[in-house]
Amino acid sequence: MKLLEKGYLGTCQIRNRSVMTAMTTGYAGLDGAPTEQLTRYYEERAKGGVGLIVTEIFRVNNVHGVAFPRQMYALNPMNVQPLAQMTARVHQHGARIFAQIHHGGSTNVPEMNNGRIVAPSAVPNVSGIMPDPLTLEEIEELKQQFIGTAAACKAADFDGVEIHGAHGYLLCEFLSPAFNKREDQYGGSLENRCRLINEIVQGIKAVCGKDFPVGVRFSCDEHDPFHEDSLKLPDGIEIAKCLEAGGADFLDVSNGNYFCPHSENEEPYSYAQGCREAETKAIKDAVSIPVIGVSNIKSPAVAEKLLEDGACDFVGVGRQHIADPEWIKKTAAGRTDDIAHCIGCLYCFESLMTVGYVRCSVNPKAGREGIFHEPPAKDGNGRKVAVVGGGVAGMEAAAVLGQRGFDVTLYEKDSKLGGEVNLACATAPYKDKVGWLVTTLANAMEKGNVKVCLNTEATPDLVKENAPEAVFLAVGGKPIIPPLPGTEKAVLAADVIRGTKKITGKTVIIGGGLTGLETAEVLFRNDPSMDITVVDMLPKIGMTMYPAIYDDVMKQMDGKALTLCPGHMLKAITDTGVTVTNTTDGTDAFIPADNVILAMGTRANKDAISAFEAAFDRVVLIGQTAKNPGRIATSMFDGYVTARGYEPGI
Ligand SMILES: Cc1cc2nc3c(=O)[nH]c(=O)nc-3n(C[C@H](O)[C@H](O)[C@H](O)COP(=O)(O)O)c2cc1C
Ligand code: SF4
Repeated sequence: MKLLEKGYLGTCQIRNRSVMTAMTTGYAGLDGAPTEQLTRYYEERAKGGVGLIVTEIFRVNNVHGVAFPRQMYALNPMNVQPLAQMTARVHQHGARIFAQIHHGGSTNVPEMNNGRIVAPSAVPNVSGIMPDPLTLEEIEELKQQFIGTAAACKAADFDGVEIHGAHGYLLCEFLSPAFNKREDQYGGSLENRCRLINEIVQGIKAVCGKDFPVGVRFSCDEHDPFHEDSLKLPDGIEIAKCLEAGGADFLDVSNGNYFCPHSENEEPYSYAQGCREAETKAIKDAVSIPVIGVSNIKSPAVAEKLLEDGACDFVGVGRQHIADPEWIKKTAAGRTDDIAHCIGCLYCFESLMTVGYVRCSVNPKAGREGIFHEPPAKDGNGRKVAVVGGGVAGMEAAAVLGQRGFDVTLYEKDSKLGGEVNLACATAPYKDKVGWLVTTLANAMEKGNVKVCLNTEATPDLVKENAPEAVFLAVGGKPIIPPLPGTEKAVLAADVIRGTKKITGKTVIIGGGLTGLETAEVLFRNDPSMDITVVDMLPKIGMTMYPAIYDDVMKQMDGKALTLCPGHMLKAITDTGVTVTNTTDGTDAFIPADNVILAMGTRANKDAISAFEAAFDRVVLIGQTAKNPGRIATSMFDGYVTARGYEPGI
């Protein structure tokens, strides 16, 4: 396999063609030094077989260069030793590690940067804030900071560096005529716009030597609908040639800036694997230095095809390395069925942006490698346990319990495993990626010899027949139906998605979260002429959704008769429509409708809990059974931790 062949970036030999692209984790310390959590996270990926890890972003100064609170920083001499410990831990497993060096430019926030943000020119950022154009003196200072950071990384035994010139950050702004309006030697012509990056590359080479690889990540197309003069692929090709001529050892081809639709450099569900092949190939064909190509890669077969097609020399793989740090090792061992695939849900980004660190839906251990470094104890000794519910929480718990040596029986009322994940899969053909998780968990359960009873509504009496010492209750939540006039006339979103309730005519959906919008998507797919209104009490529809996922769903409904009605609460349902109350001024409005669909989420399933708690001494609640709302990530984590921590026989 080409994927497993060694290759070179500059003079640095890489053991295979897989590159874990830079991904900010939020695991670094506030001082910019690596923590044990971060080191362990990278170490696990090195152990899992990746050829090269490109770290998350290093800032180059604390004055106007801070992009993220827990961001790496090498220019503090105190950080060099911990960085060296991190690189040593990666090296001992045979992987290489490069540092990504970054300045956010106008995308930085003034609050973290002494009230001032800088850019090549005074062009408003995506929030409308005007940055200060950098003076020539400041540019010179910045250049030295990039070079100094690379030198500090070399001192910490990094194998090379990647200069971040993509995604709308400072050096991308220098490359792009839309953001670079300078009239000096750093603006105007292609050579001038590439000059700063080229000078940084040459400066690093001068200090660190020719054998210290220096590459550039850049957006070959900004996909920016707001700036006509933003970078398009033909510009990207010319930039690639100019960066090669400037001395870069490799190029890492990416896409987008802060104005492009969110999904252009964080591809969600609807993007196909390999979707960037044409762009990376165009760059590769234009240069002779190695090209790393990122392309929404989740499986070795797609990675292999990109390499065989000559679309890149190394595959750039981000999220798949979060989802399964061992995917390369498993590929090499012919165990591709064991790979846990990234499902494209973007919970990693969402958690980074909301709680400040990366969490993964399919890998509960991501970022917790140090806590869960040992496999679960093998102390089940054939003791019987029951798992009620074959959604992801139940499946994960059953798999872990089975692998611990318990004798596990799982009951699922449906004819197939997966629970609510099957519902998600049913909303759109491109949601098949979510279903990969069910396959992964079913394989893991098989390894744990879990007995599966499908089409079986588990009552306490039925489960008792098998005399388990504990019941893990993972039956999920119950749909919320508010006690309001006329709600008995409404249909549940799940029934519409499953196709058990056929809907035609003018329709109102109550609930503007992911399920509500996906229900609209399903209805439009069945009948593009439908007229649908989505109502939510929050001030914005999709407010609880990660923006790229929201964009992804909404773009499926472009041009359809979809009305969004945020800031309104359901008051009553009648035979002819819905009365809603404006949450700001308290006024009522009537929306005529033939059908009303409830997509208001779920709440704890108290009936199931009390029935099982009355019948068994040990009932362990997992997933959405007792908590709302449920997410795949929280359900998986709950299933994993609960099953791992379960103490037998007490
Ligand atoms: C949580 C997260 C953080 C990221 N942080 C960075 C970063 O610091 N620097 C960077 O160049 N790209 C960053 N990216 C983009 C990835 O490197 C990669 O280009 C993107 O995820 C698409 O590749 P994939 O489909 O293989 O995940 C990040 C992506 C994710 C998911
Ligand atoms: S959170 Fe979702 S998108 Fe991110 S790595 Fe995990 S599965 Fe992939």
